Amino acid sequence: TVIAVAQGLPKLAKKSTYKVGFAQTESNNPWRLAQTKSMQDEARRLGYQLVYTDAGGSAAKQVSDVDSMIAQRVDAIFLAPREEKPLAAAVKKARAAGIPVILLDRTVDAKLAKAGTDYVTFIGSDFIQEGRRVGEWLKKTTKGKATIIQLLGTTGSSPANDRRKGFEDAIRGQSGMKIVASQDGDFSRDKGRQVMETLLQAHPDVNVVYAHNDEMAIGAIAALEAAGKKPGKDVMVLSIDGGREAVKLVADGKINYIVECNPKFGPKAFETLKNYAAGKQIPAKIINPDREFTRENASRLLSSAF
Ligand code: AHR
Repeated sequence: TVIAVAQGLPKLAKKSTYKVGFAQTESNNPWRLAQTKSMQDEARRLGYQLVYTDAGGSAAKQVSDVDSMIAQRVDAIFLAPREEKPLAAAVKKARAAGIPVILLDRTVDAKLAKAGTDYVTFIGSDFIQEGRRVGEWLKKTTKGKATIIQLLGTTGSSPANDRRKGFEDAIRGQSGMKIVASQDGDFSRDKGRQVMETLLQAHPDVNVVYAHNDEMAIGAIAALEAAGKKPGKDVMVLSIDGGREAVKLVADGKINYIVECNPKFGPKAFETLKNYAAGKQIPAKIINPDREFTRENASRLLSSAF
């Protein structure tokens, strides 16, 4: 779908510099820190003023962060919505105040707010496709036999909803593949470790853990090792993100497979903003390409630019 500025979205004047908001969800993992750095670096390179807020893992705080950006009359807002439903209202509020919003990495509930009407576009990965790729890889590698624990991302967030859907769709109908437990690990290493510890006691026969991000996978590895199991061998570990620490674990044989989710949004985010200001047509979704990391390519990719 291609949307036009004329469809009623707030306009953005063509200027040599902008004051732009970036409402981040939290800063408790390397992926978030890399995303923030990429946004800050690009704003600095362009000589734009970046009004940065960190919601500290609270959707309510992120809603009030957007309110404060509206009060400060920023020219545009980049929003990485922590959860799909609560942040839809913030998007509409900014739109009503005449401030264009670009969603970064996560999206809002499509029934509550729409690209081209309420916000300009979504830039990020196809999370359903990421989950599907993990499921397809597992199906092929295990020949359809697996007893799986799924560590879910933050409840109510688009990556948790979509990575679950893509994975479960991919393995549906496989009688030898069973998800014995799916539990929220909040995309956090420590929570992932704790949840995995508890689930391992209830399901000692599990031989696959699918974590919705690297941080929870690394937490799960700690839980597996504490239980005397060899991650990557006794229990396969599958993940999404592809941060350096996790890709090293692929090279070491402790993680079996990762689908990338690249956090470096800065250049594409600001280029889209400039295109919008220039009145160019902007697609409703701008999807980042994702690589994959396996035993075969991890060491090579680690030694090249990463
Ligand atoms: O929205 C993307 C996800 O959020 C990343 O996979 C995760 O690491 C982050 O917290």
